[in-house]
Amino acid sequence: MNSLELRKKFIDFYISKNHKEISAAPLLAENDPTLLFVNSGMFPLIPYFSGERHPSGNRLVNSQRSFRTDDIEEVGDGRHTTFFEMMGNWSLGDYFKEEQLNWWYEFLVEVLKLDINRIYQSVFAGDDIAKKDNESIIILKEIFKKYGITAEVGPETISDGNKGPNVDIDFNKYKIFPYVDKNWWKRGDAVGELGGPDSETFYDTGRIHNPKYGEHCHVNCDCGRFIEIGNSVFMQYKKDVQGWKELSQKNVDFGGGLERIVMVSSGLQNIFKTDLFSDYIDYIEKKSKKRYEDFSSSFEIVSDHVRASVFLIADGGVPSNKDQGYFVRRLIRRALVHLRKLDVEFSAFLDLSKLVIEKMSPVYPDLKKNKGVIVEAISDEIDKFSHTIENGIKYFEKIKHVDGLISGEDVFNLFTTYGFPFEITEEMAKEKNYKIDKKDFYKRIDEHRSISRKGSEQKFKSGLADTSEFTVRLHTATHLLHESLRRVLGTSVQQKGSNITPERLRFDFFCPRKMTQEEITNVEKLVNEQIHKKLKVYCEETTPDRAKSLGAIGLFDHKYEEKIKVYSVGGSLESTKDVFSKEICSGPHVENTGDLGNFKIVKEEAVSSGVRRIKAILEKNE
Ligand code: ALA
Repeated sequence: MNSLELRKKFIDFYISKNHKEISAAPLLAENDPTLLFVNSGMFPLIPYFSGERHPSGNRLVNSQRSFRTDDIEEVGDGRHTTFFEMMGNWSLGDYFKEEQLNWWYEFLVEVLKLDINRIYQSVFAGDDIAKKDNESIIILKEIFKKYGITAEVGPETISDGNKGPNVDIDFNKYKIFPYVDKNWWKRGDAVGELGGPDSETFYDTGRIHNPKYGEHCHVNCDCGRFIEIGNSVFMQYKKDVQGWKELSQKNVDFGGGLERIVMVSSGLQNIFKTDLFSDYIDYIEKKSKKRYEDFSSSFEIVSDHVRASVFLIADGGVPSNKDQGYFVRRLIRRALVHLRKLDVEFSAFLDLSKLVIEKMSPVYPDLKKNKGVIVEAISDEIDKFSHTIENGIKYFEKIKHVDGLISGEDVFNLFTTYGFPFEITEEMAKEKNYKIDKKDFYKRIDEHRSISRKGSEQKFKSGLADTSEFTVRLHTATHLLHESLRRVLGTSVQQKGSNITPERLRFDFFCPRKMTQEEITNVEKLVNEQIHKKLKVYCEETTPDRAKSLGAIGLFDHKYEEKIKVYSVGGSLESTKDVFSKEICSGPHVENTGDLGNFKIVKEEAVSSGVRRIKAILEKNE
């Protein structure tokens, strides 16, 4: 089964179980300061796990393109990628473990016709937050029984999940394995984050266990014998200052990597052999006149990174030195280094990116629409990197060595000042028979990294994703601010971005000039007037067209779901009198503006040409 068929089969299967297909979010997580990229399908659904109503109902399904920076070093092992498509289904306080596990197995065994004998499952072993997931164990045993298998529960892993139970396991007898630290899914550790026990599905690829990864194999072993193909998260907890607390509703958050599911259902042991990657692998083989098998790691890095770069650029990530753009730059440059290793010229990366656009646009038509932008951004980056390489080589030629040893400082300068990749320095040193003072180089790199890490931790801690009281209040204040800006500066003021943490709101908007002090004061005054009036906040579901015709503001060039929510302050969506603001938004918001406190703008500054930024806070009412 190819990827196109499989993607459709998954969605259709859940639609047949009364799910609604929802559109996917762009990869760049604009309004969430805790996250740079959308890394799973649940990300855009966060408010709905805690009780907000989703306009498409409480059973949802989609395929969400995702990007995980954490996995960049793992690419090259045949089963990891940075970019992937996550097939997801959700229950928002509707069905729970019974339906979730039964349907998922029905899909695997009856639709995909996978061999049940090769399927294994892990469950949460229990700790001081939540008890062992015996419910899932009972359900799973029944499912296996239905398919003629007596599934027994294998030895538990209470501590280090990477080691497993650390005993020899009879995989014919045991099918279900309890783990603690591998089976609690959470998106992050900040207050407001969601999480819960999960149950992962593994497929036995038939590879032989490699003792390099531990004496005894187990389903979570890194040797590659077992591959995780799906994760059912029983999303039931939310973190507050004291720890994980039960939510008022029980949710299911399921995600499974399309690439891996295509792999196992095609009887392959490697995702780069599937139709999702084979065109790129073939192309690199042809260009390099080398075999994939002999250079698999470089082939996989190039193929993964080109897909990731194309999708990231299409969703607005232009290569740069900052935030999301930094990762795009890093992906492209890392892929170019590997192409160089394979003796392939850089322009091959551009050809590959065009192949990605062609291959993926039947499912992602935006790729074709944005082809010009993507191709230009990639060509630009290839040019820049070519200069980097030229300049770096010039600098390298001038480096002085002492008895054949190059100092760590020189290599570090080459790396930080010129952006010259260390692998290439190493290669060139080898050609000239020089050695590098690596110890000193790595010491400098470590110092450099810990300084930048400190910066980014501060930058991305806590935010809108947490639906804490403070964040919600600031969210409603953002609507008041948006409307006030339109009233004071004119309706050409349009939202560019919003970013809310429990401490402050940050609102970016299009405006060609700096605001005057008087304008700032007037905006503040207007917002505070609405707060003093103790206005009721209304929420209504409707279609984007109706919302627009009734005067709601929204991003109308953006593709909305069929049904959306409009929050209006001071009156319903229908009313024309006394309503202060109407805005399309997924919420959540406070019920009454009287809950907000005193609004204060603390900063008004430029972000880029034509875009201003306001930071504002709410002070407590004493
Ligand atoms: N959100 C879950 C995951 O990413 C399904 O594994």
